[in-house]
Amino acid sequence: MIILGIESSCDETAAAVVKDGTSTLASVVSSQVQVHHRYGGVVPELASRKHIEAIVPVVDEALTAAGLTLSGIEAIAATRGPGLVGALLVGFSFAKSLAYALEIPWVGVNHLEGHINSVFLEPDPPSFPFVALLVSGGHTSIYYVTDHTCAEMMGQTRDDAAGEAFDKVAKMLDLGYPGGGIIDRLAQKGDPAKIRFPRSYLDKFTYDFSFSGIKSAVHRYIANHRDQYTEQIPDITAGFQEAVLEVLSYKAIRAAMDKGCDRIALVGGVAANSRLREKLATDAGREGLRVHIPSIDLCGDNAAMIAGVGYHYLKAGIRAELHDDVFSRSI
Ligand code: KG4
Ligand code: ZN
Repeated sequence: MIILGIESSCDETAAAVVKDGTSTLASVVSSQVQVHHRYGGVVPELASRKHIEAIVPVVDEALTAAGLTLSGIEAIAATRGPGLVGALLVGFSFAKSLAYALEIPWVGVNHLEGHINSVFLEPDPPSFPFVALLVSGGHTSIYYVTDHTCAEMMGQTRDDAAGEAFDKVAKMLDLGYPGGGIIDRLAQKGDPAKIRFPRSYLDKFTYDFSFSGIKSAVHRYIANHRDQYTEQIPDITAGFQEAVLEVLSYKAIRAAMDKGCDRIALVGGVAANSRLREKLATDAGREGLRVHIPSIDLCGDNAAMIAGVGYHYLKAGIRAELHDDVFSRSI
């Protein structure tokens, strides 16, 4: 089944053509980073407008790259939520009208299930069940995954998402937006042990996270070192990053061991972090666990993962209705 995937939940307009849920024929992502950069975060109204401008060219480009025309598309999968409602509506309404015009089936997909399924677009995917650590700008959660469309949440952040903490710390240090990739690069030049920030494990038995404390700790450090901190940015970013990643790695491994799974999938925008990729694989390897991490292109928001999970719903006969609407938060 050849599926056109559409993603517009935040600041990326994306379209992809995926065959049978695993083989990506084309994947196009148009980022709005330049638009939101000067505001230090995503401006929802601007995001919606940019999605409207980008959606048709992005879909066209994906079809051309796949060597297809619209008549070659057998079904459509579009992100239904969670995300920014105005942004989601652009991709979702586009998918709805295109499917209606082409008289083909379509389905609305949960963005987070898309991220979890991103590992199936790579060769050698994990077998079920496995534990997924989903770390992005909007979410930080651990799931017990028993099927493509079946993920039980074991824990989640009680305040900021990990990616949000990266973005906010980058903003405090005046490094630019989005901050994750910038901190990743700067931290490589710093010493993670030089400035120690608190690790927030909460209590030992929870898989929940909290990143607001470390964000405040960095803020306090900057306030108390007004004259020196600009020279210490590599060490500050390395110290901050290590404190966040240590907790992520520890909890994901404990979740897998508690569930008796020998596989962990690391997914979401923060899964692009070079230190996290290396650390989780090493820490998990020590416990005899294997980590599956998608390539960098599949960590950030993309439509291939949406088409990938959409395939499993469509195969099971699940279809969206014309009156279906988007949602901003997971229920
Ligand atoms: O999954 P994603 O593209 O969008 C959401 O669904 O949120 O994730 C975006 C987040 C941003 O917070 C960004 O700073 C973070 O992923 N990010 C990174 C890296 N690249 C992107 N965080 C840490 N290290 C990176 N290399
Ligand atoms: Zn995402």
